Amino acid sequence: ASKACGSGQKAMEERLEAFSLDNKNTQETTTTGVKVDNRNTLKAGCQGPSLMQDFAFQDKIMHFDHERIPERVVHARGVGAHGYFEAYKDWSDLTAADFLRNPGKKTPVFVRFSTVLGSRGSPDTVRDVRGFATRFYTDEGLFDLVGNVIAPFFVHDAIKFPDIIHSGKPHPSTEVPQAGTAHDTAYDFFGSFPETIHTVLWALSGRGIAKSLRQVDGFGVHTFRLINEQGKSIFVKFHWKPLQGLSNLLWDEAQKIGGKNIDFHRQDLYTAIAKGDYPEYELGVQIIKEEDANKYPYLLDPTKLVPESLVPVTPLGKMTLNRNVENFFAETEQVAFCVSRIVRGIGFTNDSLLQGRLFSYPDTQINRMNSVNNMQLPINRPINGVHNNQRDGYMQTNIHKGDVSYFPNHLGGNAPAIAEENQGGYIEYPEKIEPGATKIREQVSTVDDHYSQAQLYWNSLTVYEKQQTVDGLRFEVGKSVDLGVRKRMIDVLNHVDNGLARRVAAGVNVPLPDKVTDNSGHTTVGLSIEERPHPPHI
Ligand code: HEM
Repeated sequence: ASKACGSGQKAMEERLEAFSLDNKNTQETTTTGVKVDNRNTLKAGCQGPSLMQDFAFQDKIMHFDHERIPERVVHARGVGAHGYFEAYKDWSDLTAADFLRNPGKKTPVFVRFSTVLGSRGSPDTVRDVRGFATRFYTDEGLFDLVGNVIAPFFVHDAIKFPDIIHSGKPHPSTEVPQAGTAHDTAYDFFGSFPETIHTVLWALSGRGIAKSLRQVDGFGVHTFRLINEQGKSIFVKFHWKPLQGLSNLLWDEAQKIGGKNIDFHRQDLYTAIAKGDYPEYELGVQIIKEEDANKYPYLLDPTKLVPESLVPVTPLGKMTLNRNVENFFAETEQVAFCVSRIVRGIGFTNDSLLQGRLFSYPDTQINRMNSVNNMQLPINRPINGVHNNQRDGYMQTNIHKGDVSYFPNHLGGNAPAIAEENQGGYIEYPEKIEPGATKIREQVSTVDDHYSQAQLYWNSLTVYEKQQTVDGLRFEVGKSVDLGVRKRMIDVLNHVDNGLARRVAAGVNVPLPDKVTDNSGHTTVGLSIEERPHPPHI
């Protein structure tokens, strides 16, 4: 059922096939290819001690001992699928990127959906902002769109990422995951760092608990650039929209399903693809012209979004997932996505969360795959060639020819050359930097507005979604035994909406707060009550 279509995808499939191993009807061999008897270890007599010289035993056990690699430090739990992307038309006016300029051309893709906080063996149906990472194997190199299913992000500066993850991961003392138990550290962080509230509200509404990965949105979160052949640049926000529609579970449903089947989402995806019910997602962009950028002062702040009512999404093309992985480890586990894997016609912006991500992913992947050559793994190789002077390193699988691995050179021969005027090469957008800029550790002032977009989001919810959000917050915040944590969270919510804060407060044993009149800061209005260390059980 899972037949691949399109020549690009065929090429990708053949590439992976070239690395695949078929052990049918073969006798077991050691890694050195020597046929061996795999039934018994070599011993001094039938009941004697095992012998050191048993190379067949050593070969087998030693490999087994090293079968595991570290799980991803975040997004450890994931499921992957292959597919292809097709542009609806020639978007040359927007970008020089090949995969967006050739309607009818099928560019192979690999997608990995994930949860952020759970370990590899955690349940699928937890509340989470979920990753939606897509790799395009374009004829001009890899393009990774590494997004989430929720539009904003918790923090605007990469230096806060370890803090937010530490606050949400299982407690270091007990390794008990916070889903369903005490959420005090996560909500301690959210209440202490109110720029998180916009994303917290998205996650607490239905969007945090997907029903199926075939029914989630995807967001690039950051603002990127598209650059066309003429060098003209526009700002864009990437969106995936599932053609199956959006859907979510209620918390109670999620808990029951999670209790019976932790693989609910991955099974759903595998099954749909295996029976030919291929999920489709439309890729679109919100386009903001360079000259209009100052209309959106929060454009480079990933804790905010650009409302679709102001800038609608222009659909660019469609992705179809039509092939399950052959081997989870080789494909889903070893795939190494990164926002820095980018192609000509697409560029970065000065979003400081994005800038930090550019460093973090390749760094962690060297640790995870134990080699700087992890991009040589079959799932990570681009389908066009790799030609450079990078050499050696652990697990080098290329055999480079010739003695010249430097540039410039005159002994040339097999060494890669710089193309004349960077023909077909990556286009560096010559962005102007702030005149007279100095090195400074400060944030731009738009980041100080933590509440306007959170209010917009809250006000956009239906009455049912609002109730779901209140129930979610009562469950989460109410789990914290620390009154200060609960009070600070109610205070943050109060700056979003007094009604919301009062509804949650009533369920978590915090006095109902008064309306805030000054919305600019983070005050402690309405929180003077006696300490009650044990919240009610919600
Ligand atoms: C995975 C870091 C923000 C989406 C990862 C990984 C790291 C990381 C270290 C593991 C990568 C691997 O082992 O292969 C960071 C840092 C961030 C950040 C430092 C902020 C500075 C974000 C944001 C998004 C995001 C804003 C969404 C827009 C993802 C996804 C994955 C991931 C989808 C999983 C990729 C996969 O499926 O293999 N991140 N991240 N991250 N991150 Fe981030």
